[in-house]
Amino acid sequence: MKELEFNKIYNMDCVEGMKCIPNNSIDLVITDPPFAIDFKAKRSNYHRTASRVLEGYSEIPKEKYYDFTMKWMKEVYRILKDTGSMYVFSGWNNLNDILTAINELGFITVNHIIWKYQFGVVTKRKFVTSHYHCLYVCKNDEKRKFFPYSRYGKESKSERGKSLHYEDKEDVWIIKREYWTGDQKTPTKLPSELIRKILMYSSEKGDIVLDPFLGSGQVAVVSKMLNRQYIGFEIVKEYYEFAKERLEKNLYRIKKEYEITSTQTSLKLFDKGVKYGESRMTYLKTAKQIGKILKHIPKLWDGRNSILEMKKTNFPHWKQMEWIGFYFQFLCGKYLSRIMKMPGPRYGRVEFDGLKNIPWDFKAHAMNTSSHQIIVNDSEATANGIKDYGKVGLILALGKVLYNDEDRTFQKWHEALKGGKSKYEIERIRRGAWSRIRKVSFDLQQISFIRITDDTLVKCGSFQRDFRNAGGQPRREKVLLDLEKIDEELVYFIEF
Ligand SMILES: C[S@@+](CC[C@H](N)C(=O)[O-])C[C@H]1O[C@@H](n2cnc3c(N)ncnc32)[C@H](O)[C@@H]1O
Repeated sequence: MKELEFNKIYNMDCVEGMKCIPNNSIDLVITDPPFAIDFKAKRSNYHRTASRVLEGYSEIPKEKYYDFTMKWMKEVYRILKDTGSMYVFSGWNNLNDILTAINELGFITVNHIIWKYQFGVVTKRKFVTSHYHCLYVCKNDEKRKFFPYSRYGKESKSERGKSLHYEDKEDVWIIKREYWTGDQKTPTKLPSELIRKILMYSSEKGDIVLDPFLGSGQVAVVSKMLNRQYIGFEIVKEYYEFAKERLEKNLYRIKKEYEITSTQTSLKLFDKGVKYGESRMTYLKTAKQIGKILKHIPKLWDGRNSILEMKKTNFPHWKQMEWIGFYFQFLCGKYLSRIMKMPGPRYGRVEFDGLKNIPWDFKAHAMNTSSHQIIVNDSEATANGIKDYGKVGLILALGKVLYNDEDRTFQKWHEALKGGKSKYEIERIRRGAWSRIRKVSFDLQQISFIRITDDTLVKCGSFQRDFRNAGGQPRREKVLLDLEKIDEELVYFIEF
């Protein structure tokens, strides 16, 4: 059989497939093999299992699990580079066979990681399982690649002054599962954050990442998102097709609604956005059009240069301490004004950043903070925008922020440029408030296109509901997006 190509996935048995990959050619393996199943238990449970999981899901009888594991892992050992590593996920019931195979084949165990997730099944007579094992192994411990500062610099601190670098390197990883309601189901799915973390610590751009058991294709999709090469196998045709479509269309999620065709006009009559000719399909099209242009914006934003650039063009917000969000607005203005009306529609005293079929807002958010919440636009204006256009959109720049300004040189530089501290800063100092460490640079990783509808508002809630300002008037409520709840709304993304 001829050699397989990279940046492709294959609908075949992985042991057969791996035989067509030359020795020492894979940089990283991330995989979540099928479970060993007790077939008697499965039969008694058959209807439940069958209705939830796509037909054809391939599982292995318990007594054959060790042989099965040895077979695929032996191939991995052969094709893995000396500089490479493998991360294997396993529940505790199969762990014994996995550990034995790892040792038998000569892999060296680097770490035994625990992935702690939420929402285990509630149990009455025992404890709830809410973790998974992840064995991080390699062929050569001296040569294996590891990039300790790829996510957090040595000095990276959270806003509360804790070492982010240390926290991220602990071997218990608390990462939520992603729930995709309404999508085609695959049996288990690794959250993208988990894969992203492994990719960043154990691979570089251009490296070849293999997943012998693709399922929904998460490992390949996230590898592609981070500019790695990928290859993988999936034995069940439906899963393979699903993963292939995600990869080909660069879509993180595939929802049925995007399949609405132009002939299904009756459906559109009930689409709220129809008033403005905005079908559901158009959101994705518009997002892609915007994405194509935003792909050209710079990836690394240095604080000083960004502020100077905004100042030079008289962008009104160059004095703002939280320069990253404003700089993203500035970039959107610079790059998108050809295709988007800016500012967007106005509701009372609040306006959207732009209008292109629907109202859009631009926001930037740090990936390396413990905060998963983003304050978006005014709640009332958002509700009005949804009423008028069926939905509103958020263009969200996600990146790694460097906070290193402990000696405050960046802060002093900015203040000098502004001609002194702002009234806001002076007031904070007067109150004895702790001055936030400035963000010195931003390394753009991804721009997401998020669709906000009535359902989103219900799900995410709002910010400042009961707040009052200094004069006693109620503060305006703002939409609060919880990044961990909005996989449903994340329609499209581009990577940097
Ligand atoms: C636990 S799931 C992997 C889920 C995946 N990590 C994801 O995020 O979607 C294991 C997958 O391996 C597939 N599989 C089982 N035996 C296989 C084999 N011999 N070759 C290739 N794929 C196989 C199953 O169909 C299933 O989709």
